[in-house]
Amino acid sequence: EMQVARSVADLRGHVADWRGRGETVAVVPTMGALHAGHLSLVEAARAACDRVIVTLFVNPRQFDNAEDLANYPRHEDSDRAVLGPRGVDLLFMPPVDEVYPQGFATSVRVEGLSRGMCGDFRPGHFDGVATVVAKLLLMTGADRAFFGEKDWQQLQIVRRMVADLNIPTTISGCPTLREDDGLALSSRNARLSAEDRAIAPALHRAMAAAALRLRAGEDAAQVLAQARDQITAAGFRQVEYLDLRDPETLVPLDRLNRPARLLAAAWLGPVRLIDNIAV
Ligand code: PAJ
Repeated sequence: EMQVARSVADLRGHVADWRGRGETVAVVPTMGALHAGHLSLVEAARAACDRVIVTLFVNPRQFDNAEDLANYPRHEDSDRAVLGPRGVDLLFMPPVDEVYPQGFATSVRVEGLSRGMCGDFRPGHFDGVATVVAKLLLMTGADRAFFGEKDWQQLQIVRRMVADLNIPTTISGCPTLREDDGLALSSRNARLSAEDRAIAPALHRAMAAAALRLRAGEDAAQVLAQARDQITAAGFRQVEYLDLRDPETLVPLDRLNRPARLLAAAWLGPVRLIDNIAV
């Protein structure tokens, strides 16, 4: 049966018991409002380790905007119900002051990778992510941690941070789960109107078409400009960025002369959607 811990001391007690029996431990960090994308990470974690911890913490420090934080979906009860039958051993859901007690003063910043793309449009966002992920990995002491490729920039930042800080956790990236029409699963999709939901797959569609043209050797600047136009023509309000980048260092590429990643963020009504694919 799934246990629930709300304090770091309680969490560490469970982990110490498992360690005493020589068991390995995986962690899946989440902000809740769980969907099949999150559950695919749980499945990968379960296949990899003896014990699985899911963390559910809506991290205030990674929201650049108070309204986004207030509007972030919270489905604690259904999240617990969904995890129960999936072989999760422990759900860690700390209150905010357990993670950030009075006097908290430390921030983790991954230079370079945290700039550009989402880093430019969401100031401080990735410092908040790096700080909380460092804390969650150190709190749990997990052997392995599972993250989605859906948040590609986040995944590269976490990999860099874990290497730079000698955190003894192996990071695994898991493929993006999509709806049948190509829309990447996201907790924010629930906020799309029916009309916008019908428009939403245009983001992935335009990106997939652009990737094909890039692979065929077409001029990158032209392909990207046309893809941006397709996304807005489909009904998106604004394309924040649509960039071709090195998959690991995230340096911008102006031509496809090696493996690359195409990454985008765009606004559909009040909802900001992100996506990325291999090129
Ligand atoms: P959250 O958005 O809840 O996502 C939790 C994990 O699920 C992340 O690793 C994310 O990449 C993954 N995920 C989301 N949608 C996915 C999809 N469609 N397919 C596969 N994986 C998907 O990302 C965060 O929370 C936070 O920033 C966190 C890392 C928990 C730090 O607060």
